Amino acid sequence: MHSFHVVTLALVAPTHAFKGGFSWTRQWYPLAFSKVTDRSVPHRLELLGEPLVLWYDGVNEAWCAMIDACPHRLAPLSEGRIDEKGAIECPYHGWAFESDGRCTRVPQGVDPLDPKLLSKCGGTSYVVAERQGLVWVWGEPLNFSEADPKQLPDEAQIPICEALEDDRFVWIDVSRDMPYSADMLLENVLDSSHVPFTHHQTISKRENAKPLPLVLTETLSADGFSGENRVDGDAGVLKVQGSAPPTRRTERTTVFRAPTYMHHKIRSGGLAGTDAENDFDAGFETWTVAYATPTGPGRCRLFARFPFRFPPPKPRTGLLGKLPSINLPAEVFRRVPTWAQHMGQLKVLDDDNIFLPLQERRVADVGGWKRGYVTPTSADLFVNTYRRWFDAAGPPPHASHAVDYFRGAALDKASLLDRYAQHTKHCTACSGALTNAQRISKACTALLLALGTCTPWAIVGSSHAVLGAASALSTARTVPTALAATCGLIGTLVSRPIGAVTLSALALFAIRQFAQSVAEKLTTGLGEYPPPRNRPEGEGAATELRTVEQGRAR
Ligand code: FES
Ligand SMILES: [Fe+2]
Repeated sequence: MHSFHVVTLALVAPTHAFKGGFSWTRQWYPLAFSKVTDRSVPHRLELLGEPLVLWYDGVNEAWCAMIDACPHRLAPLSEGRIDEKGAIECPYHGWAFESDGRCTRVPQGVDPLDPKLLSKCGGTSYVVAERQGLVWVWGEPLNFSEADPKQLPDEAQIPICEALEDDRFVWIDVSRDMPYSADMLLENVLDSSHVPFTHHQTISKRENAKPLPLVLTETLSADGFSGENRVDGDAGVLKVQGSAPPTRRTERTTVFRAPTYMHHKIRSGGLAGTDAENDFDAGFETWTVAYATPTGPGRCRLFARFPFRFPPPKPRTGLLGKLPSINLPAEVFRRVPTWAQHMGQLKVLDDDNIFLPLQERRVADVGGWKRGYVTPTSADLFVNTYRRWFDAAGPPPHASHAVDYFRGAALDKASLLDRYAQHTKHCTACSGALTNAQRISKACTALLLALGTCTPWAIVGSSHAVLGAASALSTARTVPTALAATCGLIGTLVSRPIGAVTLSALALFAIRQFAQSVAEKLTTGLGEYPPPRNRPEGEGAATELRTVEQGRAR
């Protein structure tokens, strides 16, 4: 056991002291994906244990955020409404506030022309920005009456994803409230070696597991670190670790930008042995991007983005060359409905959600990662380096009044896999799809009942013709006549009322099953539990033992 710890320390980067400490509050944090957040109502969210109200001011076309407590008597503003002027109106006595927290209305009688009096009624606001489809908030609240404009945060510091600035990329976005802390989430996503096992037969398989020769290309600092995975193998769609022999030169790089952002980037050149071998624009490129917003103790909000760039279409010749060039995989990808993309991603996230909260509590119970983890291979380099960053930065300064889910949260499977509470209720695409699926299911049930009442009539109306066709079949003596009689019977069944009733019932039943399945998958992951990795049967055994030396191989 002791020697493992010696190896662990040898594999991680040297410690760099954080000069001047690390500020968790003077940072930009994503709060929501703009496209799937309902603009017609205010939302109660959290940042560092502080409840915030987020709303969209349609008049000034801007997202706004304040502490979710009215300055009058501390009622939650998120239970109010957005008024005609785009201000948030308190549900209790109707005071209204603009984006900078300024109070603009006190219906009980403060003179609206007395700015001195009104200034006493203002609330605490946050600076909000929208970049790359995300709503960002600066972690330090702002009291508008005391704010120094020079102290306003710089939007250039927002940790954007470079791939999204390139219009050759298409991508999937998904967010989810996770029942574990932001550091646990980042540690998990930085660790590619869990993918073949945790996500066996969802996005990878056990056979893909292999030693990961990870190296740092930028040493640890307060800003984060960068590294590279020097494993051989092709990059495929969502394949984090290649298993095939390399037919393309493939680069795998990883970046962590403190405190919330990380990405893995995999890109391949053209086919080996061709002129395009080192041309990364000719190959496939995929990113896994994760932002982890520390919402409170024992919980965080994940913003995952998966940008893809497909190889450019091959040049066409002749008549086809005159047609406009389209990248077919990218076009197909763009047309998958958002709710269907989210449904798939929720299943993948369930794979980790079911055990990471238990692991996180165990790490705390044993006195932290340094005491609890045994990490003898280079596959854990990024995990260890991230942990060293986290130790140096110190834990996020959650508000003292924050609800502590770390020790108080329910850890039963239904709670951990509660897709509705963790995602669907915040996502307009999925909540809309859920409502539609429930309506379709009810409509199909009603139509099936109505068809049931028609069945006796359909039987009576069809019986004469059906009996005739059946009797022709029963008297057929040769194969050709039997075949002809069978076709006749099928034709009679389909063309008579009984056939129409039966086919309609089958179609309605199939549609209802599909709608119910969508509704369930947007509500809970329990129906898909246990995941394929738990099942003893089937393919995918990781049979080959790996030595520590192999694990370190470069
Ligand atoms: S508590 Fe908000 S107006 Fe009274
Ligand atoms: Fe969704």
